[in-house]
Amino acid sequence: MSTLLTVENLSKVYTLGGGLFGPARELVALNDVGFTLEAGETLAIVGESGCGKTTLGRCIIKAQPVTHGHVYYHPKDQAKVELTALGKRDIKPWRRDIRMIFQDPMSSLNPNMRVFDIVAEPLRIHRVARGKELEERVLDTLAKVGIAPDAVGRYPHAFSGGQRQRIGIARALVLDPRLVIADEAVSALDVSIQAQVLNLLDDLKSEFGLTYIFISHDLGVVNYIADRVLVMYLGHVVENAPTEMLFERPRHPYTEMLLEALPIADPTRRKGRSKELKGEIPYLGNRPRGCPFHTRCKYAQDICRSEKPALRSINGSAQMAACHFAETLDLKGAYESSIGGGDRPLPLEGRAGEGVVL
Ligand SMILES: Nc1ncnc2c1ncn2[C@@H]1O[C@H](COP(=O)(O)OP(=O)(O)O)[C@@H](O)[C@H]1O
Ligand code: SF4
Ligand SMILES: [Mg+2]
Repeated sequence: MSTLLTVENLSKVYTLGGGLFGPARELVALNDVGFTLEAGETLAIVGESGCGKTTLGRCIIKAQPVTHGHVYYHPKDQAKVELTALGKRDIKPWRRDIRMIFQDPMSSLNPNMRVFDIVAEPLRIHRVARGKELEERVLDTLAKVGIAPDAVGRYPHAFSGGQRQRIGIARALVLDPRLVIADEAVSALDVSIQAQVLNLLDDLKSEFGLTYIFISHDLGVVNYIADRVLVMYLGHVVENAPTEMLFERPRHPYTEMLLEALPIADPTRRKGRSKELKGEIPYLGNRPRGCPFHTRCKYAQDICRSEKPALRSINGSAQMAACHFAETLDLKGAYESSIGGGDRPLPLEGRAGEGVVL
C-alpha cells in the first residue's frame, strides 16, 4: 500500500465573541491531530457530537484554514504536496482528487438546479469536460449511483432522501477523485436506505479505486464499512486502530464506553436499543488538564488529572491509544460483550443506524 494522506500535528482554534459581546474566547476544536491514510483504505472517524470530526474533514480539504500543523497529499506519480501551505488558486487542482460528501443532501444540493447541472457543475468549474463528453460523463456517473437518465431534468426536491444522497455521491465522483471524505453521509437516511447507500459506497470503492474517510457517529455503520477507526474526544485522537482490533479489545476507556453503548444483537437479551453514554462532555473552551477524558473515566488515577497521555503504539502493534494505562487495562470489546461474538455485523435492516447515537 502507498500513503495517500498524512496529517501532522493539526490544531484548529476558533475564536468566539470579542468586541461588544465581551472578551474573545478560544475554542480548541482540534488538538494536535495526526494520522496516515493508505491508498485504498476506509478510515472511519468517530466520536460524540462536537468532538471535531467535521472540522477535521474541512481542514483537510482546506475549506477552513488550520491554526497549526500540516496536511500532505501524496499524488499518484508525484512528490507529496503540502495542502496546508497552498493558496486558494494552487489548491484548486487538488480539489479534483479530494471530494467531500455531506450529511444533509438537501442543504448541500442547490434546490434551484436540475440534477444534470448539479452533477455537471464540478466538471465545468474545473474545466474538465464540455459538450457531448460532459453529458456522457454526467449520465454515466448518475447511472453508476442508480439514477436513471430520464430523471436528470428534475430538481432535488423531487427525489427521496436516499436518491438525493446518491446525487450527492455522483457529484463527488464525477471528477474521478482518489479520496472521498463522507461526513455523516448516511446519518440522515432511514435504516434500510442506509444499508443500500453503504453497499453502493462499497461497490463504488472497488470500481473507482477510491480511498474513504468516513465520518460517523454510528459505530454499527463504522464496524461494517471501515478498515480502521480513529476515535476522537474533545478534538484529540484517543485511539487509532484496525477495526477488528478496536472492536475486539479497545485500548482506550472512551472507546470501551462507546462500544458498551452499542445495541445488543441477541434478541433474547435486549433489542436494538443503544444505551446512553455516561457523563457530560466538558466545554471545549474550558478543557480539563491532563487526560482530556479524566472527568468521565472510571479508571482515572491521580496522574490522569495532571499529565496528558501520549498517543502511542500498544506493544508495537497497529493499535494506538492515548491512555496512561492502555497496555494494562483489560477493556471490554463489542464482539464478546454487547454484540455477542463472531462476525462483523452487516448493516441490514434493523441494524445500521441503531448504533450509538452520539
Ligand atoms: N465555524 C465555527 N466557529 C466556531 N466554532 C465552531 C465552528 N465550527 C465548529 N465549531 C465548534 O467546534 C467544535 C467541533 O465541531 P465539529 O467539528 O462540527 O464537531 P463534530 O463534527 O464532531 O460534531 C464544536 O464545539 C463546534 O461548536
Ligand atoms: S489516562 Fe487516565 S483518565 Fe485518561 S483514559 Fe486513561 S485511565 Fe482514563
Ligand atoms: Mg459533524
